[in-house]
Amino acid sequence: MRRLIPLAMALVFTCSPGAGPARADSDELGELKNVQKLKGLAKPELVKVMKTFAAALGKKCDFCHVKGDFSSDDKDHKRDARMMIDLVASLNDKFFTDPNGPRATCFMCHRGAEKPVFNP
Ligand code: HEC
Ligand code: HEC
Repeated sequence: MRRLIPLAMALVFTCSPGAGPARADSDELGELKNVQKLKGLAKPELVKVMKTFAAALGKKCDFCHVKGDFSSDDKDHKRDARMMIDLVASLNDKFFTDPNGPRATCFMCHRGAEKPVFNP
């Protein structure tokens, strides 16, 4: 679990090099109701991570989110994406362990598509 915040930070840094870690202002965190994996991010930083998810899959926010309620888990794709967050975390825990080296991302497999390609 201790790796999950670094994972979130790695995703933020991947999309915006040079950005500092977010201050987790209680005001901004107060609006987040159902964040189970990407804990410890202020809302603007979480939304940056979300933009990397959307870009990695070539989709908009509503691919995973019910319109008007980002905290809802009603969509399968959101629940799938939560498992994928664990997948990325375990890749970083086991294989991409150099903090200065490349870190696993959604894009490394999805490359802008909903379904990764399995064979050349
Ligand atoms: C590929 C799926 C996916 C896409 C696309 C996606 N999200 Fe998310 N989003 C998630 C998952 C999964 C969570 C829950 C993360 C967790 O539990 O740590 C989440 C959580 C959130 C939350 C926190 C809601 C709360 O109160 O708990 C917000 C806000 C959010 N997303 C906004 C966005 C925005 C804005 C976009 C489009 C730019 C977007 N998301 C695109 C999967 C996605
Ligand atoms: C190691 C490769 C890999 C990584 C990294 C990865 N994915 Fe996936 N993802 C897959 C595979 C494989 C599938 C299954 C595709 C299929 O069913 O054909 C999948 C499926 C999904 C699906 C379901 C799509 C559907 O059509 O049902 C979502 C949503 C998703 N991934 C989101 C993410 C997000 C968000 C991240 C980053 C947090 C991520 N993935 C990282 C390989 C990966």
